[in-house]
Amino acid sequence: MVLLCACSHNAGDSLNEELSGGMVVPKHFPQPIFPKSNPYSREKALLGRYLFYEPLLVKDTSFPSCSHCLKQEFAFNNNVDFSKGYGGISEIRNTMTLANVVYRKMIFWDGRGNSVDGPAYRSIFMKNIFASDTNDIVKRLEATELYPRLFKQAFGPDTKISTYLAGQAIATFVRTLISGNSKYDKYLNGDTALFSAEEKSGMELFFSERCRCSVCHSGIFFTDMLPHNTGVTVHYFDQGRWYVTNRREDRNRFITPTLRNIEVTAPYMSDGFLPTLDSVIEHYNRGGMKFLMKDTLMRPLNLSVYEKKSLIAFLKTLTDREFLTNKKFSDPHKK
Ligand code: HEC
Repeated sequence: MVLLCACSHNAGDSLNEELSGGMVVPKHFPQPIFPKSNPYSREKALLGRYLFYEPLLVKDTSFPSCSHCLKQEFAFNNNVDFSKGYGGISEIRNTMTLANVVYRKMIFWDGRGNSVDGPAYRSIFMKNIFASDTNDIVKRLEATELYPRLFKQAFGPDTKISTYLAGQAIATFVRTLISGNSKYDKYLNGDTALFSAEEKSGMELFFSERCRCSVCHSGIFFTDMLPHNTGVTVHYFDQGRWYVTNRREDRNRFITPTLRNIEVTAPYMSDGFLPTLDSVIEHYNRGGMKFLMKDTLMRPLNLSVYEKKSLIAFLKTLTDREFLTNKKFSDPHKK
């Protein structure tokens, strides 16, 4: 299905895949909604794609901007516990995938944000991310052959390059990163023979009353978008959702993450504490650590070795290989 922008429409909003080089929405996915303040256009997404991979945005061009931490091969995530930005300054939480971020009502582990526009813009000048001077960025981009043209195409002929607009374009590109063609999606769309017996029994366990994974990891995006304390540790240093709401019950709660492409986004949890899917399943099998405010859904599962293996086999059916290698999302500077 081709994207029809569910916001302010103009003729350019309904696009065909080849033209847009971007956005095809799987037929079992809802229509993505772009904000009125930053509607979709194919030209903006294309500019955003160039900027997403543009070293000129970083203070001393020492790394390739957003894709330094958000790598396509890892579902626009990475494989370290804490990402490091400019000057090697570390984040305090594990990076989250950008896949399907257009559908998220809340972003970040504590759900403090509701839009990728702000973070896309602020990353450019935040000291721990690109640490750039915004005037400098404008000069650098203006001096190229490429960007004056791309900004005009995206924002109109009288446009002056600005970091604010750069942020809007990057956010638009990021919203096109839709992943919905995993083995599981093919299964949902009728190709049921694709699943092995092990994957099928893993799926049954996942959705079962016994395991109750799907109570929190619910719906087509495997998240209820709600905060939970799953007892990952007994010594939470991070108060999670509480920082946002100041409500006692939100202490150490984190918004349920999606499980799509989970195979390629180790290590796991908001603190990157669990290195493998085996360790995640062990964590659930144990019912999480003893913790006062732990969600009541967390309790020992008594899984057999085969059941653990099959749960992992099911989680691996959520990997969308096409998304991880799709040229439409790759670095356009590398021809
Ligand atoms: C009570 C709600 C809840 C239930 C039930 C639940 N999860 Fe989770 N899951 C979460 C939350 C919240 C996190 C993030 C926790 C954190 O970072 O502290 C998470 C994290 C994960 C992760 C790591 C995700 C990442 O990106 O790092 C995996 C994998 C996972 N869960 C699989 C499962 C499986 C399999 C089951 C069933 C056996 C299950 N979950 C049951 C809420 C739940």
